[in-house]
Amino acid sequence: MLKIDILTIFPELVESIIRYGAIKYAVTAGKAEIRVIDIRKFCDDKNRNVDDSPYGGGGGMVIKAEPLFKAIASSREVSVEKLLKKPPSNIVYFSPAGRKMTSKITKEYSEKRRITLICGRYEDIDNRVREKVVSDEISIGDYVVSGGELPGCIFIDSILRNIKGVLGNESSAQNDSFEAGLLDFPHYTRPAEVYGLKVPDVILSGDHKKIDRYRKTDQLKTTLQRRRDLVEYEKLDKEQKKQYIDWYSKQKPRIDSKLYVTLLHYPVYDRLKKTIVTSVTNLDIHDICRSSATFDVKKYYISNPIETQRNLVKRVCHFWTEGYGSTYHENRNVALEKVSVATDFKEVVDSIKKEEKEKPIIIGTSAKICTDTKKFMSFEAARKLISSRRPVLIVFGTGWGLADSVTDRCDFILEPINGANHFNHLSVRSAAAIILDRLTINNYTENLQGGNSYGKGN
Ligand SMILES: C[S@@+](CC[C@H](N)C(=O)[O-])C[C@H]1O[C@@H](n2cnc3c(N)ncnc32)[C@H](O)[C@@H]1O
Repeated sequence: MLKIDILTIFPELVESIIRYGAIKYAVTAGKAEIRVIDIRKFCDDKNRNVDDSPYGGGGGMVIKAEPLFKAIASSREVSVEKLLKKPPSNIVYFSPAGRKMTSKITKEYSEKRRITLICGRYEDIDNRVREKVVSDEISIGDYVVSGGELPGCIFIDSILRNIKGVLGNESSAQNDSFEAGLLDFPHYTRPAEVYGLKVPDVILSGDHKKIDRYRKTDQLKTTLQRRRDLVEYEKLDKEQKKQYIDWYSKQKPRIDSKLYVTLLHYPVYDRLKKTIVTSVTNLDIHDICRSSATFDVKKYYISNPIETQRNLVKRVCHFWTEGYGSTYHENRNVALEKVSVATDFKEVVDSIKKEEKEKPIIIGTSAKICTDTKKFMSFEAARKLISSRRPVLIVFGTGWGLADSVTDRCDFILEPINGANHFNHLSVRSAAAIILDRLTINNYTENLQGGNSYGKGN
């Protein structure tokens, strides 16, 4: 039997909830024992004041440490001294700062023998209780409710549903949402037609094999549309795997951004920090334009002040878009058509300004972290900026990196790519591919999820 103690300053609130449904059944069937412990009973003063104002000021009140320590010690039938010396396991505090509650977590707790749950109120509980004896913090989601009682009851309900014999129909828990990484299938009951709305024929067919397949297909379809993050491909059956791959192959990411990229050959530094002009490389032309096409960059500007270098770029592009190359490589032109040639940085910015009728937000890149707090930009912030559909120009440098005269003109400098160790000297082509992936991938996966068209997607 699972023993649960729930510590609260509002025992009646908890008692009124646990009198119903699966929780009540689990208790009456002897599968669980729930004690509701009133924290106030452990206050020594005559008014039983459980809270006090916070040290350091600020609004709200805080539940005091002393009655809480005593209530927890009482739950575990130990002295406060022993509790503090060797805190027992499975002491859970409900907090917005906790791990987000999932069926995996509640399943784990359904296998425990004894759990003590602490419901907070007001601003919080005294932090010393959290630090000293709480073994786990659980959140019911990214929002704040007024107390831990409702989160506590949700937690208990979900735990008890997992205990064998608690639910009337054993199979109903197995088919519930989140089991096997899928949401539940739709349910219908009599009559077969109501206000002209019919139950799908297959459900009424009496062919249980067909019904099972129909439900499994529906479950996967709904989960892919609404919560692709839940799906575990490895756990799907053979038919579902085929359905998954078929669905995946039909997804068309729509990034639809106003994202531009430029590769500057001047002004950049050499390794002695002398300002130089670098020469164009065929690899930089091809690889960055292919990344640009993949991640829906509108234009890739190659900037070089030397005319013969610009002509070289133009010749390469011409070969693949209109010359012989275009006749034997079917889609290389799609990527090469992204390339524009510019004399300098100013020309790049002016060209975008003309096209978008507003100045682009300029984000420089560097292997070194930008220490100017006003200019530093995280991948997350840049991603949001790009998805807001403002014109954004990402600036890549050749040689030993962009000269200060360029970074001074950038509105922001992107956080560097950090790998698994301190070495992060990537080629500009690799850096561009990684950065473009990081800056657009959320848009891409959101679209893969069907643009959140809950239930209405295809
Ligand atoms: C008004 S809230 C305190 C919020 C706290 N000051 C904060 O900003 O994180 C009072 C209590 O409700 C409970 N609570 C509120 N939101 C919660 C959530 N999302 N998940 C779990 N418990 C929550 C916690 O026990 C918390 O101590």
